[in-house]
Amino acid sequence: MRTSFITLVVAALSAVNAQPVKRDGGVDDATVLNFALTLEHLENAFYREALAKYDEKAFEKAGFHSWVRDRFAQVGAHEAAHVQFLSSALGSQATQPCNYSFPHHDPKSFAALSQILEGVGVSAYTGAAQFISNKDYLTAAASVLATEARHASWVASTVNGGSGWSGALDIPLTLNTVYTLAASFITSCPSTNPALPVKAFPAVSFGDKPTPGSTATVTFTSTVEASTPLYAVFFTGLSQIVSPIQNGKAVIPSGLLGTVYAVVSTNDTIANDGNIIAGPAILDFPFNAQGQLITY
Ligand SMILES: *[C@@H]1O[C@H](CO)[C@@H](O)[C@H](O)[C@H]1NC(C)=O
Ligand SMILES: *[C@@H]1O[C@H](CO)[C@@H](O)[C@H](O)[C@H]1NC(C)=O
Repeated sequence: MRTSFITLVVAALSAVNAQPVKRDGGVDDATVLNFALTLEHLENAFYREALAKYDEKAFEKAGFHSWVRDRFAQVGAHEAAHVQFLSSALGSQATQPCNYSFPHHDPKSFAALSQILEGVGVSAYTGAAQFISNKDYLTAAASVLATEARHASWVASTVNGGSGWSGALDIPLTLNTVYTLAASFITSCPSTNPALPVKAFPAVSFGDKPTPGSTATVTFTSTVEASTPLYAVFFTGLSQIVSPIQNGKAVIPSGLLGTVYAVVSTNDTIANDGNIIAGPAILDFPFNAQGQLITY
């Protein structure tokens, strides 16, 4: 049963070669799948390289139970399966793996980065769903998204000891904000890879230890005229909270919990790929089982 379902979906996905369906944004289904494959290649390399680097002893030394590494191996195998799945669907159009550089130096920092990457993966699929035209691809993408969400939850809670979720709703990220985060780990790609209609924004940071309700210094390289009013926009669940940037500072909205993505935009109402000029920064506001912010 299982094999035939996968075969069916791959067969449906393969139609992408024959009939690219374009939506208004100019992003066709093959492009969305290649965008997803770009992320899956990255995650696949991330787990493969880290597990080759850190053996069971290294995990134990870092304070993890021995089965934690085995579970990470399962997660890595899922990412390899996602690569396989999307690659066979895209056929000759499939984008190839790049070279990467991941900033971890032990199983602890690897687990922290895993939490970030899985979270970005979830938000990438959530945000890209609107660009998928074919219902069969949408079902396949939802299936991958659900698995990525389970990974994200397991790493954040069981491994890293925090909450397995940020709230009732997860965050949809835009194509460019996802690409911005992914690009920071990509060092070079095959020149033959299909060009994707995405770009990376400049980085932004919000001070040393931003906390909800505090005022943070917003650091970024602006690409617009100095007189342009700018806004820090905080993505939480399905909402965006806008905070004006004045004299290089912005108030971090109070009440934020869990993972929040923050960008700089020229728009005072809604941030999107057309008006974001920097970011996203990934902010994390850990909270306890009573839903209260944990302060250090
Ligand atoms: C990846 O790095 C290797 C070793 O430096 C290099 O030979 C190869 O061309 C690179 N591949 C890509 C896709 O940039
Ligand atoms: C912000 O974006 C909205 C929706 O796209 C648009 O109607 C509005 O004019 C924009 N505002 C500014 C200041 O650009």
